[in-house]
Amino acid sequence: MIQEFSKINKVEGELNLPGDKSISHRAVMFSAMAKGTSRIYNLSNGEDVKSTQACFKKLGIETKTVKDFVEVTGKGFKGFHKPESFLDAGNSGTTTRLISGILAAQNFESVITGDESLSKRPMKRIITPLTAMGARITASENNTLPLKIFPGENLHAIKYELPMASAQVKSAILLAGLHCDEETSVIERNPSRDHTERMLGLKIEKSGSGKISYSSRKDYPDTKEYFVPSDISTAAFFIVLTLLSRNSLLRIKNVSLNESRTGILHVLIEMGGSIERESERKAAGEPLGDLIIRGSELNNIIIPEEIIPNIIDEIPILSIAGIFADGNFTIRNASELRGKETDRINAICSNLKRLSLDVEEYEDGFSFGGKIKNSNPVFDSFGDHRIAMAFGILSMQLHSGGKINNFDCVSISNPDFIRQIQNITR
Ligand code: S3P
Repeated sequence: MIQEFSKINKVEGELNLPGDKSISHRAVMFSAMAKGTSRIYNLSNGEDVKSTQACFKKLGIETKTVKDFVEVTGKGFKGFHKPESFLDAGNSGTTTRLISGILAAQNFESVITGDESLSKRPMKRIITPLTAMGARITASENNTLPLKIFPGENLHAIKYELPMASAQVKSAILLAGLHCDEETSVIERNPSRDHTERMLGLKIEKSGSGKISYSSRKDYPDTKEYFVPSDISTAAFFIVLTLLSRNSLLRIKNVSLNESRTGILHVLIEMGGSIERESERKAAGEPLGDLIIRGSELNNIIIPEEIIPNIIDEIPILSIAGIFADGNFTIRNASELRGKETDRINAICSNLKRLSLDVEEYEDGFSFGGKIKNSNPVFDSFGDHRIAMAFGILSMQLHSGGKINNFDCVSISNPDFIRQIQNITR
């Protein structure tokens, strides 16, 4: 579907956004692993989290929507069924990599498949450490899906230093570590998001060379009430839209303010963005609060390497802010972007070139400058929800608007994007 956007005049109002995608996946998984019924409030309504729910359904775990929460009745570690057919993770890397850590320790065989995009994404990064723990996993020739996971009841603990910043890889190892008597430890030089550690209450240590997270059998999850804060990665699109629009004021309620995810706020504030926090509090171990955003003049800044894992999902929309900020925009040390739902470095550069900006593509990033010369461009989403929404926001800043091809993919994280935009724009 082609989605057309016109130029907007201003942003005004208040938004409630769906639950954080990363926290939602984990809330479903950890509830499924616990013995008994857990409740999840404000679960993400995106397709990715539905993929996680569908995979657990095939493992014998039902999720049920009751009033304003979702109920998951877990059956404990030994309670999963051998699935009758493959587990389809759809478009979701988080589903695939985290569930692999759980399945690696089961006494049955399972096969994980996914859509065309997921079937191209790298899986060696989880196969290597899980195999070192005693798991038996095979993949396609290129180390991509389908993954076949053989019974592996006797996993052993490992000490593993992550070769790349990845919360998905870290979580897969820590989840497999829940089946070992000894402690598994994962070392990160540039720490990635820490929802798994927080939600399971894992021990962590900060050391000179980074951060170490530990898991063992004693950390196996119990039933719980989860309150999922609004997704800061989804909020980022509305934050940038407001910052770029004159005389604008937006409040976004109950946004996740977990420090391993708020890098986007720090960067935008340093660029000159007016973003204030109110009503900060914690719910089920995760910090949250309201954000108040006002239209602002922005300047491009140097984005440091250490913050990249913290803003990895926000780089598409950050680069849109960069178009309208003073000076040239540069992002480096972000080669992980090439392994996302699409090669995001290539997708962003390809779309920016359609505006006739001066774009330079690097293996680990890109830079651009110059003035927009093309009015009414047609962008491509490359089937990637974050690219679709980022260029939708850009189109709303262009005099003659813009169009995005293949826009439906926004439903991966936020099916209500268009309705939310209509509610807050004039
Ligand atoms: C996620 C971790 C990140 C992020 C993804 C969600 C998670 O991926 O890009 O959208 O929920 O753990 P990596 O861990 O591969 O960097």
